[in-house]
Amino acid sequence: MKKLLAGKLICPACLPQEYALHLEIRSAEAEDIVDGTLTCRQCDRCFPIRQGIAFLDPDQQEDRQANRYEQEEVVSSYLWSHYGDLLGDEQATDAYRQWAGLMEPHAGLALDLGGAVGRFTFEMSGKCDLAVGIDRSLAFIKAARRFMQKGELRFTLKDEGLLGHEVVIRRPAQWQPERVEFIVADAQRLPFAAHTATSVASLNLVDKLSKPYAHLAEINRVAAPSGSQLLLSDPFSWSTEAAEIDQWLGGKEDGPYAGKGLDNIAAILRHGHEGLSPGWQVTRRDHVWWKIRTHSNHYELIRSCFIKAAR
Ligand SMILES: C[S@@+](CC[C@H](N)C(=O)[O-])C[C@H]1O[C@@H](n2cnc3c(N)ncnc32)[C@H](O)[C@@H]1O
Repeated sequence: MKKLLAGKLICPACLPQEYALHLEIRSAEAEDIVDGTLTCRQCDRCFPIRQGIAFLDPDQQEDRQANRYEQEEVVSSYLWSHYGDLLGDEQATDAYRQWAGLMEPHAGLALDLGGAVGRFTFEMSGKCDLAVGIDRSLAFIKAARRFMQKGELRFTLKDEGLLGHEVVIRRPAQWQPERVEFIVADAQRLPFAAHTATSVASLNLVDKLSKPYAHLAEINRVAAPSGSQLLLSDPFSWSTEAAEIDQWLGGKEDGPYAGKGLDNIAAILRHGHEGLSPGWQVTRRDHVWWKIRTHSNHYELIRSCFIKAAR
């Protein structure tokens, strides 16, 4: 983890109280902490930094393999989804460039929540001082960090059954790895103090969370009260696998969030709601076509509907 990030972190276990974390470095390579600990002096929780990766999710995940986003095949699918265009694959989309194109350059910190293997975070590296990709999947964060450090990444793309072939992606020169970091953390309990982010993105995440409203509240907490931007995009594939129906922010006939998720989230952001303030101005609504590859003859085409907002 880059040293410059340490001063921006708070204890996610103590939220809504915000306490700084105390950094102990056991080994470092230049500006990168390889081994160390971030400790909260209030609750005594220790968050390790191992092999350069900061673990800031207050829930210890004992059985990582139970999470589909930790599986090698799924990592490969997402690497293709994020970087397929770098392979010159004609099936690839330019979804992440479209999403990044919606963001104005800005000073300060950009957060990419549920950022997976990092494409949007890299895209933001040319538009801000520091872009941080945050995800609960260690396998995704490992892949993103390796790409950040090495500038190239080899992985196997599945063809069919047990058949696959190796591909190599190379980081484009305009991306700035010194302005990028990736950490393991929970998008519903962010390890950042209030008002520290100038932009926040939540792409294809809100329908995967157990508490979607807590995610919006966290976005609201960490984003600067003025001069900040938000991009939220999602296919709104609400499911009981991810969250109880009463937690969904849309996709229901009745109840507090009846109707469509995008409309409800736009209304929540616009008017401020249950402590969400100051309100946001929705500046654009549209969709981006996004694709995930399972194997050479199987792709998922996803209509990800977005809101761009500012305040
Ligand atoms: C459908 S993927 C979308 C990934 C990426 N934003 C994109 O558009 O390609 C959902 C991502 O959210 C991550 N995720 C799920 N729950 C999370 C949580 N509570 N906090 C942070 N990330 C989470 C998953 O590991 C996965 O990377």
